[in-house]
Amino acid sequence: MQYGYFDEKNKEYLITKPNTPAPWANYLGSPEYGAIISGNAGGYSFVKSGANGRHIRYHFNSKDEPGRYIYVRDLENGDYWSGSWQPVGKDLEQYKSVCHHGTGYTNIVAEYDSIRTETLYYVPMNKTYEVWRMKVRNDGSKPRKLALFGFVEFTNSNNYEQDTVNLQYTLFTSRTYYKNNKILQVINENTPEEQSWRFFGAAGAEVTGYDGDRDTFLGDYRGYGNPASVENGQCANSLNYNTNSCGVLQINVDLQPGEEKEVAFLLGQYEEQGASEVLSHYKDLAVVDKELEELKTFWHSKLNRFQVQTPSDNLNNMINTWNAYQCFITFIWSRAASFQYCGLRNGLGYRDTVQDIQGIIHLDHEMALERLRLMISAQVSNGGGLPLVKFDHNPGHEGTPDDPEYVRETGHPHYRADDALWLFPTVIKYLNESGNWDFTDEVIPYSDRGEATVYEHLRQALQFSLDRMGAHGMPVGLHADWNDCLRLGAKGESLFVAFQLYMAFKVFIDIAQNKNKPEDAAWAQTLLEELDENIQKHAWEKDQFVRGFTEDNYTIGSWENDEAKIWLNPQSWAVLSGAARPDQAKLAMDKVYENLRTDYGTMLFYPPFRKYGLPVALMALFNASTKENAGIFSQPQGWLILAETMIGNGDRAFEYFLDCSPASMNDKAEIRKLEPYVHGQFVESKDSPYQGRAHVHWLTGTASTVMVSLVEGIMGIQPQFDGLRINPCVPSDWKTFSMVREFRGKKLNIQVENQNGVEKGVSRLIINGKEIQGNLIPVAEMKDDNQVQVFMG
Ligand code: NOJ
Repeated sequence: MQYGYFDEKNKEYLITKPNTPAPWANYLGSPEYGAIISGNAGGYSFVKSGANGRHIRYHFNSKDEPGRYIYVRDLENGDYWSGSWQPVGKDLEQYKSVCHHGTGYTNIVAEYDSIRTETLYYVPMNKTYEVWRMKVRNDGSKPRKLALFGFVEFTNSNNYEQDTVNLQYTLFTSRTYYKNNKILQVINENTPEEQSWRFFGAAGAEVTGYDGDRDTFLGDYRGYGNPASVENGQCANSLNYNTNSCGVLQINVDLQPGEEKEVAFLLGQYEEQGASEVLSHYKDLAVVDKELEELKTFWHSKLNRFQVQTPSDNLNNMINTWNAYQCFITFIWSRAASFQYCGLRNGLGYRDTVQDIQGIIHLDHEMALERLRLMISAQVSNGGGLPLVKFDHNPGHEGTPDDPEYVRETGHPHYRADDALWLFPTVIKYLNESGNWDFTDEVIPYSDRGEATVYEHLRQALQFSLDRMGAHGMPVGLHADWNDCLRLGAKGESLFVAFQLYMAFKVFIDIAQNKNKPEDAAWAQTLLEELDENIQKHAWEKDQFVRGFTEDNYTIGSWENDEAKIWLNPQSWAVLSGAARPDQAKLAMDKVYENLRTDYGTMLFYPPFRKYGLPVALMALFNASTKENAGIFSQPQGWLILAETMIGNGDRAFEYFLDCSPASMNDKAEIRKLEPYVHGQFVESKDSPYQGRAHVHWLTGTASTVMVSLVEGIMGIQPQFDGLRINPCVPSDWKTFSMVREFRGKKLNIQVENQNGVEKGVSRLIINGKEIQGNLIPVAEMKDDNQVQVFMG
């Protein structure tokens, strides 16, 4: 079933049926002032931290409520509804709505009983409050008298957990006031050191009633769908004291036929004076459209740095808008706040963040650089990464996983084997995109003590693995590798990490050669060859690579096993790293296709663990075909697509893209449940009764891996040190497609012809009328604006 569609031109997704099978969300603002909102206006907001700066309540794991509601009541006939379909939930035969989720804003248009409302929600650029602007229009033929009720349910503590569970305390710390068109809520009024303020105000109209006490507004034994004050047509002018607080402002509106009026509600963590200043900024509501334009310009100018026109609308929507936007959201928000992440992770996961960076490098390498510096400064001087980089990370002064204080604060008692190795693919991407090779000489502190150049940091990351090799000459798995659930310990070995190390050596050799350090390159080359030999000797099993070896030498991911016989990641990473010989690549990737592919994506392994479990295979804790226990983990789909493009299989790469693309499920939302415009963390696979159902929306490393696979793999846009390589790997039935790409400050308009229907291989390349050899366009050949013709086959 379909609930909406993509509007590519406006970079929006339009929800046309509001009864979506899960809350379909969007992000507003930034963690400085963050807001998440569903198509039914459910969601919450906070300042800086979803856990410690929360001012709107949201009931996780429940119905999608409460939210940012504006109720509309007909003062003459007593009927009432809401600007979003929920919470009142009128019959959808009479109530029509279209929710526009866009880049940094959500606009919900609703029509009911000849009244059209349009409610725009956004956080203005660089501001720390939110705006809800409602336009209300009388489309009928008789005059109408309406009342609008803006509603927000405040938390009673900035700390989300305290607000939710410590009721004997937090219920008695807050109260509300009404002053000049706004409700003010104060927490800990008598202790200035602890005091905090929130406001909910109205601009553009006079307030005719208010409620600051939630239970008075809702009334006894009522819910958000039928609040007493709305039903009465008049707020009770209540204020809370030792009860739950809320902000409700009533505005009465008379409308002649065809007439439209507008009002704005403003919300944030300000005391009276700050709140009044915010309100006065909206004296003239024309400022709202200006602020909306600013938001669009900000986001669209980033996204427009790479745009494609291919025969696939699905791919176009993903590359041009939604996958790219999800990359930014994941980059900015990490795993901090969503409808599943309740804001309790007090920092950035090392591997997640270093990978998230990859997703935005092609669109904003400057933004990427800042975060990359931070992550390098979270590398311990022994070369490993801190599993969790706290939001108040203090380079040079942090503890390490060997240190009780760090463990107490973060809950991470061990190193992971993979963390710092993610720096290699990310750093090289940054260098090639930006051309800023001086970065390799930049001095950055280690997290615990000392400092080193970026180049030395990389070398030290190799050393961390080299200091921790197992009996087969491969890196040990420690507390986890990419897979959170694989505990291979200090002696068991991980093939995933072996392939990462393989790739890391290659990247390091490139950088060392580029920096004219032949001894370093030779050192890494010798180690690479040793690793290569060990992989070939111990890890290749006829037609697949194994996943690892436990401390007692049990082989994980052997065809001989009863369960978890074949794993996806070792096959794709063998190809990505370059460790697989061409015949191995073909055999292993075919085996994946035959044994792990489903219509909804490719499983992490198969069959699921049911017998072999703890202490090594923690994923056995999950139901079969779920998450790491043989679910369709979404992040590896990107590596799979990229690996297929590397061996020239454009048809298969594209098939894998279609399998996992959220847009492919736009008309099967009843199966997928999640938003069809963003990836989730995983999809249930074939041993689940709910095969195809996706979970954990938005904040997932999938955004970056799939983005990279589409940009570099399928579209073949591959920045290099001295230019831009164009090497598409596409479905053979694509005859022509085009791209616009900014690279090192130049614009390239690229037209690709594939009249012979090949999957890969550039035969001619012409830039500004001049033919060049090969498929690499040297920077020296680029003007400000370039016409590039590429011929495949
Ligand atoms: C989700 C975690 O955030 C990520 O770090 C991990 O790699 C995957 N799960 C796989 O276990």
